[in-house]
Amino acid sequence: MAAINAVTDLTVEGDIGVVTLNSPPVNALSAQVREGLKGAFEAAIADPAVQAIVLICEGKTFIAGADISEFGKAMTGPSLQDVQNTIENSPKPVVAAIHGTALGGGLEVALVAHYRVAVPSAKAGLPEVNIGLLPGAGGTQRLPRIVGVEKALEMVTSGQHVPAKAALAMGLFDSLVEEGALRDGAIAFARVVLAEGRPLAKVRHLSDKVEAARGKPEIFTEFRKANARKFRGFLAPENNIKCIEAAVNLPFDEGLKEERRLFMELMTGSQSAAQRYVFFAERQAAKIPDVPDDTPTLPIKKVGVIGAGTMGGGISMNFLNAGIPVTIIEAKQENLDRGVGIIRKNYENTAKKGRLTQDDVERRMGLLTPSMHLEDLADCDLIIEAVFELMEIKKEVFTKLDAIAKPGAILASNTSYLDIDAIAAVTRRPESVIGLHFFSPANVMRLLEIVRGEKTDKSVIATSMQIGKKIGKVAVLVGNCFGFVGNRMLAQRQREAQKLILEGAMPWDVDRVLYEFGLPMGPFAMSDLAGLDIGWDPAKTSSSTVREVLCEMDRRGQKNGRGFYDYDENRVAKPSPEVEKVILDFAEKRQIQRREISDQEILERCLYPMVNEGAKILEEGKAIRASDIDIVWINGYGWPVYRGGPMFWGELVGLDKVLAGMKAFQEKHGDDFKPSALLERLVAEGKGFKDA
Ligand code: 3HC
Ligand code: NAI
Repeated sequence: MAAINAVTDLTVEGDIGVVTLNSPPVNALSAQVREGLKGAFEAAIADPAVQAIVLICEGKTFIAGADISEFGKAMTGPSLQDVQNTIENSPKPVVAAIHGTALGGGLEVALVAHYRVAVPSAKAGLPEVNIGLLPGAGGTQRLPRIVGVEKALEMVTSGQHVPAKAALAMGLFDSLVEEGALRDGAIAFARVVLAEGRPLAKVRHLSDKVEAARGKPEIFTEFRKANARKFRGFLAPENNIKCIEAAVNLPFDEGLKEERRLFMELMTGSQSAAQRYVFFAERQAAKIPDVPDDTPTLPIKKVGVIGAGTMGGGISMNFLNAGIPVTIIEAKQENLDRGVGIIRKNYENTAKKGRLTQDDVERRMGLLTPSMHLEDLADCDLIIEAVFELMEIKKEVFTKLDAIAKPGAILASNTSYLDIDAIAAVTRRPESVIGLHFFSPANVMRLLEIVRGEKTDKSVIATSMQIGKKIGKVAVLVGNCFGFVGNRMLAQRQREAQKLILEGAMPWDVDRVLYEFGLPMGPFAMSDLAGLDIGWDPAKTSSSTVREVLCEMDRRGQKNGRGFYDYDENRVAKPSPEVEKVILDFAEKRQIQRREISDQEILERCLYPMVNEGAKILEEGKAIRASDIDIVWINGYGWPVYRGGPMFWGELVGLDKVLAGMKAFQEKHGDDFKPSALLERLVAEGKGFKDA
């Protein structure tokens, strides 16, 4: 065996040269990997004993792509194209042996090999779009030549990982070999290639699939139309589509040039920078300085959920989906029946769409035990309370739980705003109490805010982070304060939105500006969706806010066809003249001089205070890092990932500009805009949030 460099070696087994790459964690194509690959292939090509070459990786995966951490820095070592040319032009057949995930640049390396074999558990994909890019090493030109234009469009714009069996059927893989026997299987395959004198198959020479799409621009027009909503605001999907068009309409090498041009356009833009930041931020959020990876965790084999309302049902589904039994408790039989019924209906609907079998539905429902007795939670390892948002009720529930739950069980609250320490204080085991704040719909939204109380034990935190990951959530650890991270910042935006409609804007103006910014909907459309009457008590109503007046007029939101907007029978929203009049009357009564408000002011008034609140959260230590705040907003509130989260966005705008904006607003509108000490300090020192 000859070591080529620290991460690559070449072994010659009879007539086969085996190039082995070992660069943990995911064999990404760093400068060292590129250098090793080039050297190893050159050595194998030069060795007269070698007749064919196998490329295989150590560790959990084949090459998972370019090394994203190198992007934006000066390149060293050979380029990826250089490495690919060496492989593709090898006079000896090259077989890529794939396990784990061949992704992005990894699949693009496999695509310049002459053959690809894989184990059945392997997957392949071009996920560059997820970091605001496109496959920049020939992937967009080679993929459609193998799988055809329609499938290629789907793959590059979704970034989906295709399982081995499907990859084989598409022609992306040439052969599957037995699980666990990849090396031998690939060597045997290479020998067959030699014995049968198979050609040096080069994907670039395939043309029938792209020719079939030539002169049919409607394929692309229709694809764009069908996905317009999904791609809204993102630049990368369009550039990916343009590349596939180039593959159809241009000779191969011209197509490669176009791919490079479109790749560089994305690579130097702010969207990809934001999406790459989010990729690492999401992984960073899992790291808690004082709760190291080896912190002991508690086994979670059975979960209890209290309250079968909007949240309790969705929360339960997460665990049922992961195969963990759930006992769900209600105070009223009819609410229990309704809650369980909704869970079943949700599963049945998924089954109707073909995404679950009826057996899956029954298996999941079979793991659910409905009950009216809190005592039935005695053997649960984790209990999540999701009853009404009232401190008295929460305290009562936790007092009872303390008496019932087994020692060591985690007692969690799904509260949106309330003080976790006050809840913990009613128990004799505050170390076992934690906030697990899911977002609605809880079975869909990826965010889980984990709220650390003053006394919460580290193993309770570690277990909560681990179970969050197991049920497919992005877990972010936050500190205990009113509204925690997400809702605390949301309150800033909501307050300004309400003020803006009295000062001169209309709800649809505010909503439009935030929608165009990239949020899924604006604050007023969101209120209509949730229901204007949440928390509204007709007995205590006093017409003191626009929202109250609307409730008094029976404008309750989408559910009765009238809220801030009027809704037609297809739930399409239209500005409401009635609401406009309510707002104008309200402003007049308050003697507010209405004025023209620009879109820019709407944006800054709504978003700058959020960035400022994020800075306060950081200075109070309620979030570990600014990027955690961004992860909360992207996964819990639909902040557009291509804008990197509010803190990233604030820096992109310029913290000095945000600070100046806050000061100007403070002068006009008062201390709602008082800049945080941290923001002042960072600007004075010319620093960013990561230096906070
Ligand atoms: N570059 C640099 N680091 C990477 C990386 C990459 N492409 N992919 C993963 N890593 C790092 C992660 O940051 C993480 O580091 P950490 O342990 O220090 O936090 C570590 O590898 C393990 O990653 P995960 O925690 O994500 O491990 P999983 O086992 O859950 O997932 C994976 C593995 C499916 C490979 C997932 O990491 C992944 O999807 N990676 C990104 C793949 C990708 O986007 N490839 C395309 C890159 S762009 C490209 O190739 C351009 C080309 O066309 C020119
Ligand atoms: P909900 O009103 O839909 O459901 C609450 C359920 O709890 C009701 O079915 C009620 O019968 C039951 N309940 C009340 N007291 C009980 C008791 N002592 N024992 C057993 N069951 C009892 O309320 P929702 O929206 O599900 O909210 C629950 C909690 O989740 C609240 O703390 C809320 O702040 C929080 N939350 C709500 C979100 C939302 O969007 N709705 C988002 C995130 C958190």
